[in-house]
Amino acid sequence: MMTQILIVGATSAMARGCAFAWAAQRQRLLLAGRDRDELERLAADLRVRYHTTVAVTDIDLDDPCPRDAWLEALETEHGHVDGLLLAAGWMPDGDAMRRGEPALRVLQRNLTGPVALLNAFADRCEQRKHGFIVGIASVAGDRGRQSNYVYGAAKGGLAIYLAGLRNRLAAVGVPVLTVKPGFVDTRMTFGLPGLFLVADPFRVGEVIVKAQAAGRNEIYVPGFWRLILLIIRNVPEFIFKRLKL
Ligand SMILES: NC(=O)c1ccc[n+]([C@@H]2O[C@H](COP(=O)([O-])OP(=O)(O)OC[C@H]3O[C@@H](n4cnc5c(N)ncnc54)[C@H](OP(=O)(O)O)[C@@H]3O)[C@@H](O)[C@H]2O)c1
Repeated sequence: MMTQILIVGATSAMARGCAFAWAAQRQRLLLAGRDRDELERLAADLRVRYHTTVAVTDIDLDDPCPRDAWLEALETEHGHVDGLLLAAGWMPDGDAMRRGEPALRVLQRNLTGPVALLNAFADRCEQRKHGFIVGIASVAGDRGRQSNYVYGAAKGGLAIYLAGLRNRLAAVGVPVLTVKPGFVDTRMTFGLPGLFLVADPFRVGEVIVKAQAAGRNEIYVPGFWRLILLIIRNVPEFIFKRLKL
C-alpha cells in the first residue's frame, strides 16, 4: 500500500538512506528540515531516480510553535501523513555540551522538540487507528559516560518516551520503532577521535526501513551493538565510574 511518510531531519545521512529505500518502494515522501536548498536537491534526485512524489517542508525543532497546528497545516497542503521518521538530532563536542546554553539546546533538539512533535502526531495516529512512528535514539542513551552524558541523557529519554508511546499505541495497532545506532559515518561523527566499527549510513537506512516493515520494536544498528551494550550496561558501577569513556 502506498503511504506518505514524513521524514524530520531529512538532510541527515541516515534519513537519506531511509528516503532512498522508501522511494524505491514508490512511497510518497515529505522531507522536512531547516536547509530548504538541500531538501529541494534531495527531493529532485529522488523524483528522477524513483518517479515518486516527494515534497519538502520547513521545520526547526528549536521553534516552540504548537506542533498540532503545524501538522494540521502540513496535511491540509499535502494530504494525510501515514508515517513519521524522526531522524533529527544534534551532538556538539563533549566540552561544549557541559555548558549551560549548548546543553539546553542538546535537550531541545534531541528530546523536547521531538517529543512535542511526536505527541501531536501520536494523537492523530490514535484517532485514526492508523500510522507508524520511527525514532532514532542512540546507544549513547543506554549508559551515561563522561564524554557525552548530556546527549546520552537526551537520547536515553527519547528511547524511554518511544517505549511509552509504543505501549500506548499498541492498542490501536500503530507500531513504534526505536532505532539505536552505534557509530555511523555521517556529518555528526566526522573527524571525531576514537570511533570504531563505523557503519555506512545508507546501509543503516535500509536496515531501518526493513525493520519498520517487519514490525520490530527496537533495533540496534548494526546488530552487534546490542551485545556490546549488554556488556557495557552490566559493568558494575564501582568499576564503570573509574573508566575513561
Ligand atoms: N552518526 C552517528 O554515529 C549516530 C549514532 C547514534 C545516533 N545518531 C542519531 O542519528 C540521527 C541522524 O544523525 P546523523 O548521524 O545522520 O547526523 P547528521 O547528518 O548531522 O543529521 C542531523 C540532522 O538533524 C537535523 N537537525 C539538527 N538540528 C535541528 C533542528 N533544530 N531542527 C530540525 N532539524 C535539525 C539536521 O538538519 P540540518 O541539515 O538543518 O543541520 C540533520 O538533518 C540523529 O538523531 C543522531 O543523533 C547518530
